[in-house]
Amino acid sequence: MDFSEWPKIELHLHLDCSLGFAVVNEFEPGITTADFQHRFTAPLKCQNLSDFLSRVEDSIQLLQTERALTAATLDLLAQLQSDNVIYAEIRFAPLLHTQQGLAAAEVVEIVSDALEKGINQTGVQAGLILCTLRNYSAGQSMETVQLVHRFRHRRVVGFDIAGDELAENPQIHEAAYAFARQHGIPCTAHAGEARGPESIWETLRYFQPQRIGHGVRCVEDPALVDYLVKNRIHLEVCPTSNVQTNVFATLADHTIDKLYRAGISLGINTDGRTMENVTLSEEYRRLHDCFGWGPGHFLRCNLDAVDAAFASEETKAGLREALFA
Ligand code: ADE
Ligand code: ZN
Repeated sequence: MDFSEWPKIELHLHLDCSLGFAVVNEFEPGITTADFQHRFTAPLKCQNLSDFLSRVEDSIQLLQTERALTAATLDLLAQLQSDNVIYAEIRFAPLLHTQQGLAAAEVVEIVSDALEKGINQTGVQAGLILCTLRNYSAGQSMETVQLVHRFRHRRVVGFDIAGDELAENPQIHEAAYAFARQHGIPCTAHAGEARGPESIWETLRYFQPQRIGHGVRCVEDPALVDYLVKNRIHLEVCPTSNVQTNVFATLADHTIDKLYRAGISLGINTDGRTMENVTLSEEYRRLHDCFGWGPGHFLRCNLDAVDAAFASEETKAGLREALFA
């Protein structure tokens, strides 16, 4: 089955994990495809999340200038267009891109301007989510969420925490999430990826996000599944990424079909298109081949994602129409 023509929603996608070859080649002319693969993609199987994250370093190093951030954002919008993604939320951690003198606010302005341009060029609708990282300080998390507040009129739609889930003291980011709630900023949080249900409970308790990035090990705790269903907490599921970071040995071991059947709100995402070496159409094909998923499954996932999107009701109504067209 060819899923490339199907309209799709993607809520969980990292800018720094999605650098196309053409973009890298622009900044490192003559780079070979083998070198590109070695430095800008990760193996299909990493030891764990920390191993995977250590491999994003070259991409971050490249994304330190206005030119590179702009080129990467425009290229990602073009990738989304050819994958028939009609609405995307693209995330990045602004504080990671200040190593060559850009201020964090300038980074957000640059990506926001490029996004605006990319939306106009491609017709893909999109918003930005700003990430703090698990290993950041309370101050860095607060700085990041304040950037969300400051740039909400510039297509910044939400706040996230990414990075290594094994980092200690999640409580230190509580104040940033409280700031988000006080200012009506929609929130998501990576959890239940490198750790199990206890990490998801902790994340729900401390951060109270509307969505969870991954959360796929919740099935180990029926009370947690119940809680997610009752509170309509949406899971941003990234199947290929979860196999790559070794949450599951193979796709057949993935819990997505169980989560779906339990009635949890969930969507399908790539997490990144280059580091994970996958498109969203390919994710759909793999779910079709592995679990027998068909149009009904994908439509429900996309409608769940629209409900959970950090977008206006007007935008959501338009997206639902496009999904049914
Ligand atoms: N940053 C990029 N990919 C990530 C992932 N899978 N989990 C946490 N942080 C990330
Ligand atoms: Zn992620």
